[in-house]
Amino acid sequence: MRPLAPEFQAYQWAPPNSEVARLAGIDPSQVLRFDQNTPPLPLPSSRPGTIAGTIARVSGYPGGGYIPLRTAIAEYAGVEIDNVVLGAGGDDLILLCARAYAGPGDVIALPPAPTYPLYKIAAQLVGAATDGAEPVLTFDCRPNNPTGSLDPLPAARPLAVDEAYFEYCGETAVPLVESEEVIVLRTFSKLFALAGARIGYAIARRDIADELNARQAPAPVGAVAAELAIAALAFRPDPRPEIEERERLAAAFRALGLAPLESHTNFLFVPVEDPRGVGDTPVQSAWLPVKFWTNLADLVTQGDHVVEAMAGEGVQVARAPVRHVDAVPLTQHPFRVRMQPRLGVAARAQHLEVAGGMPAEQGFGDR
Ligand SMILES: Cc1ncc(COP(=O)(O)O)c(C=O)c1O
Repeated sequence: MRPLAPEFQAYQWAPPNSEVARLAGIDPSQVLRFDQNTPPLPLPSSRPGTIAGTIARVSGYPGGGYIPLRTAIAEYAGVEIDNVVLGAGGDDLILLCARAYAGPGDVIALPPAPTYPLYKIAAQLVGAATDGAEPVLTFDCRPNNPTGSLDPLPAARPLAVDEAYFEYCGETAVPLVESEEVIVLRTFSKLFALAGARIGYAIARRDIADELNARQAPAPVGAVAAELAIAALAFRPDPRPEIEERERLAAAFRALGLAPLESHTNFLFVPVEDPRGVGDTPVQSAWLPVKFWTNLADLVTQGDHVVEAMAGEGVQVARAPVRHVDAVPLTQHPFRVRMQPRLGVAARAQHLEVAGGMPAEQGFGDR
């Protein structure tokens, strides 16, 4: 086997639901995950009836070219069907772009850290370096995971712009696709709540899309996933309640003296001096188990348990301990809250609450 770079680190997943349930002492069916920037529940369109016909034909391969799905995506994205490339999630498309553009000895440029780890993994898998002059491909994460920021589009070309959280900000590089070597990567895992189906798409100029498709697996997306995605596009979930909740929660954090970064996603990134201390405090005061895995604090909250707990404990934040925050009602829109130290290494942990008030311990992945 061709050796990987000595510093290569494969993607690390959070513990599965069965492990989360075991740690929390609850049934796996009670675990709702908020640690991967995904909605906790499926869309109404993701129901057995949606896929019943597809299941009846599941002995055959998905139909050539996924015409209904690519037509629906093209209509949603405002492009032509020939501009659409399918993949088993955004991850698959990141890997596809890396192998289409780069090989050993090439350079792939990454977004500034911290960012989604798969760009580096993809570069290393194809044997490319991630620093150096004249990159053959540049990845951009817009908005960025984990900061939630929406930075200016890099000038470099070819450019693969990961728009996994596009629906929460509305900004897109799609208008550039026809005239420039820009590829937009999107996913059904976030707003469309289909992470388990593993489905995403790229938008590219027709000739580039053809080249990408030539390098893609012959049938990269399962028929069931394709059917669910078609139904989700017809349903078109509304991101506005989550955006409102994001802003409400950001205001609650600001009232505590914290300074969450402006987010264009479905999570908040909150710089603090001592992420471990912040993470520990809500655990103790609100009985929300948190597990620390490395050095990045990643709290997930439904409603304001974390905010209230931090306030109640007088958490040492930027300048002064905070002792009070107004109680605000629980809402149905949970948010991931990332705690990042201002200086030095990040620490990360997270907690998860299960609907009905049952908290569940949760690990972390890099999502
Ligand atoms: C920026 C970014 N890109 C891609 C992905 C992966 O998405 P998918 O589930 O479609 O592979 C994620 C998932 O968290 C992400 O945050």
